[in-house]
Amino acid sequence: MSDLAGVRVLLGVTGGIAAYKAAQVARLLVGAGATVDPVLTAGARRFVGVATFEGLTGRRVRQDVWDDIPAETHVALGRAADVALVYPATAHVLAKLATGLADDLLTTTLLAATCPLVVAPAMHTEMWQHPATRHNVEVLRTRGVHVLGPDDGPLMGGDVGPGRVVAPEEAVAALARLVAPVGDLAGERAGDLAGRTVVVTAGGTREPIDPVRYLGNRSSGRMGVALAGAAARRGATVHLVAAPTHLATPAGVTRHDVTTAAQMRAAVLPLAADADVVVKAAAVADFRPAAVATSKVKKEAGVPAIELVRNPDILAELGAARAPGQPPLLVGFAAETDDVEAHGRAKLERKRADLLVVNDVSSTDAGFEVDTNRVVILGRDGSRTVVPLAGKDAVADRILDEVVARLPARDG
Ligand code: PMT
Repeated sequence: MSDLAGVRVLLGVTGGIAAYKAAQVARLLVGAGATVDPVLTAGARRFVGVATFEGLTGRRVRQDVWDDIPAETHVALGRAADVALVYPATAHVLAKLATGLADDLLTTTLLAATCPLVVAPAMHTEMWQHPATRHNVEVLRTRGVHVLGPDDGPLMGGDVGPGRVVAPEEAVAALARLVAPVGDLAGERAGDLAGRTVVVTAGGTREPIDPVRYLGNRSSGRMGVALAGAAARRGATVHLVAAPTHLATPAGVTRHDVTTAAQMRAAVLPLAADADVVVKAAAVADFRPAAVATSKVKKEAGVPAIELVRNPDILAELGAARAPGQPPLLVGFAAETDDVEAHGRAKLERKRADLLVVNDVSSTDAGFEVDTNRVVILGRDGSRTVVPLAGKDAVADRILDEVVARLPARDG
């Protein structure tokens, strides 16, 4: 892995048990070619040792804003960073970042930094769900901070729930997506989507049953996020309509967060009106509960019978609304488990898409949740392009190659 070659990463480590995983983050970053400046808070140093990070990164661990006043360490570190990652990020540091408090080396440095900031929260579920933390995370998000996770899983003390820090590999992959410079593609693809507007949907919609339960699916958002990032790198103006996913927003992409299919439709339709291309990589629920209970459905009341109603089919609606030969170019996906191409071809026709990307989601190395995919791109013009197993970024570029080949030439 060398996607971070030459990139300078400020790695902030704060005081949670997950700090031990930050050592692995440092190791992966160095392995990917990054130069890593670790900054450990006092809390972090109660959990992990400075020597570990100095050994792994080959660089001094900065600890205190008072250490070397003439060097203005916080300003120097902040200015030098291409990207900053706080891993793990405690509720306390999120609160400080949201309010602009700067009372230690990490928070002063982050206040001085102008580079993209990624935070990977880790805390107990109650702390993550506390309205103060929710508010702080929202503030950070609206300020453009990329919030990774947290995952749902085992926590300290035997608890299980949302609050587990994302895996080190995931954090490093998110950084790599973020810092891939816009327009860095070599050869023919560079700028081939410049001047185009591309709308991409990603993730799996959630259809609420009651305030705590929903109907969902396994989509992680990886395929859609890869497409959004690839389109932006090729010069497009990109809108990512994202159903719940903890993936970071790629550089240069405008993100619109939604939860349900109805919200996705409400976000996509107006964006599609001005788009050259719409790519529907999201897994949209076909059905939703007819009624959403306002309070938690109690199991003591017996097994509930949940009546479902159909959701609008956003892709089909876009296909039906479009006059022949008019934009946007429509790219659908089909997640199939058997007879994949036949089902894909039928969907292509039924939804009046221009391209339909078929993936066999019964494979363990393709489709949902994994970093790789293997697809067949079917065209309305009868074309059939096989894309063998590859990383989702590479698959995204192959799909966009087919898009570019079908876009009408620009005036002038
Ligand atoms: O997110 P990942 O973990 O990376 O996984 C990627 C993926 C498997 C989700 C992705 O590659 C994929 O296949 N996405 C489409 C999944 C899906 O919902 O397929 P479908 O066959 O049910 O729907 C066909 C098409 O119609 C899709 O483009 C879908 O976005 C669209 N649709 C479906 C239902 C609906 N109500 N509205 C829609 O627009």
